[in-house]
Amino acid sequence: MIAYLNGRYLDKDEVSVSPDDRGFLFADGLYEVIRSYEGRLFETMAHLDRMSYGARALRFQRTDFGFLGAVAETLIARNGLAGGDATVYLQVTRGAAPRTHRFPPRETPLTVFASARFFTPHAAEMEHGVDVILVPDLRWARCDLKTIGLLPNVLAHQEAMDAGASEALFERGGVLTEGTHSNVFAVFGGEAVTPPRTNAILGGITRSVVLDLCRELEIPVREEAITVEQARRAEEIMIVGTTVEVTPVLRILNDSFRRTEPGPVVRRLQAALRERVGPRSAGS
Ligand SMILES: Cc1ncc(COP(=O)(O)O)c(C=O)c1O
Repeated sequence: MIAYLNGRYLDKDEVSVSPDDRGFLFADGLYEVIRSYEGRLFETMAHLDRMSYGARALRFQRTDFGFLGAVAETLIARNGLAGGDATVYLQVTRGAAPRTHRFPPRETPLTVFASARFFTPHAAEMEHGVDVILVPDLRWARCDLKTIGLLPNVLAHQEAMDAGASEALFERGGVLTEGTHSNVFAVFGGEAVTPPRTNAILGGITRSVVLDLCRELEIPVREEAITVEQARRAEEIMIVGTTVEVTPVLRILNDSFRRTEPGPVVRRLQAALRERVGPRSAGS
């Protein structure tokens, strides 16, 4: 596969990054995953804007990543991924410099990496629904930044796998925050509710799209905290994200939420998202 590193396209096997890279040493970096549907990248600008937001917050020497849109397009084309489902991964770190906590000299270039690969949509999960577990949210207080420091997410997701679930939902102080790689929505009395955009969650691109789809479909929607107690009584729970799209939750394995099938709101949102991402060609 062809990848991109610091202005050059090269074979992914030939990519090499310095052991002094601050991404490697400190997780001092940001990333994005953009979905491509038959060559159409979904919400590229929103992803790149979020990366810029993160870069400003982390005080990177460069904060404009608009150029990565063309890089993403090129990777899809050059890797022969335009005919199907794919993802583009983007990562930017504060660059390579001798290890010390303080920022490197201002002129130190960021390390910019991008790659693309085939993606298999989670069709069965989206159709039938998934189980999740609740885990304590032990992450730092800037979950609004999409940093590459993902250890709590990795540990929680593995815990979900070990429990036979598909995702872990973080819970902090009796309130749901989000999943390890997804945002959460619940439905009460036909109204969709999702936790508000604060530093406790990532402002998910899919979350924004789903909020928009709710308005378009005239599904009442609110951005408000969801307690674990309320979640037990929800008519529906769903997780949303670039890779999970809109996926119904059937059970919280370590709590009492149980449903036997996906509800009507999740079905409407799935259909609307499918429309939004564009037509599929015959046979796909
Ligand atoms: C912690 C977290 N929350 C939410 C999301 C969903 O965000 P998006 O819809 O932008 O993919 C992700 C995506 O990876 C994530 O890592």
